[in-house]
Amino acid sequence: MKKSIFIAASLLLVSSSTFAAKMAMPADAPASYEAECASCHMAYPPALLNEQSWKNVMSGLSKHFGTDASADAKTQTEITSWLVKNAATRQKYSETAPENRITKTSWFIRKHDEVRADVWRRASIKSPANCGACHIDAAKGIFSENNIKIPAK
Ligand code: HEC
Ligand code: HEC
Repeated sequence: MKKSIFIAASLLLVSSSTFAAKMAMPADAPASYEAECASCHMAYPPALLNEQSWKNVMSGLSKHFGTDASADAKTQTEITSWLVKNAATRQKYSETAPENRITKTSWFIRKHDEVRADVWRRASIKSPANCGACHIDAAKGIFSENNIKIPAK
């Protein structure tokens, strides 16, 4: 009995670190992704949202979180199919995101429950969507707890 609990616990550990590793930015990102989707915020690795969420984001670019992020039709199709191909698939992390936000998914909220409300508001952070403020290797899709440095102000 004890042994099987131990095995179950180690499987959980293994799967959570796989999750962190799997968010890596795929090597085949089209140049248009960096050009169109990294000027206002970081280029989010596609594994942070599921297929439906990316479709929702990409079909509403003219009204994108209070701004206009539209791209020409060809670029939009290219980015959408690449995002969809690389979207989150593991059931635990592949819920359709409320408001199309990574930061509103239940896994995001759970993983960040120790971050106090005033920390999110610090001048150098400003928003939970600003992953790179704390995850120093976020641009590479590395979110492991060893690669976090929360700025003091
Ligand atoms: C003109 C600026 C601009 C461009 C270009 C832009 N975005 Fe955004 N995006 C924003 C803003 C502003 C937010 C909201 C940020 C916040 O809440 O701090 C946002 C938020 C997001 C979020 C949700 C972040 C969260 O809270 O989880 C996703 C996903 C996203 N953008 C994807 C994209 C993709 C994909 C592209 C390229 C097609 C793109 N963005 C291009 C301005 C932009
Ligand atoms: C205020 C700083 C801060 C910001 C901004 C932030 N995070 Fe985090 N993140 C943390 C902390 C702290 C943890 C918990 C680390 C731990 O478990 O010890 C965490 C944990 C995580 C984990 C789990 C890591 C693991 O190994 O289990 C993921 C994935 C993650 N964050 C992704 C994101 C993404 C994606 C964004 C942007 C949309 C983001 N974070 C924004 C501070 C931040």
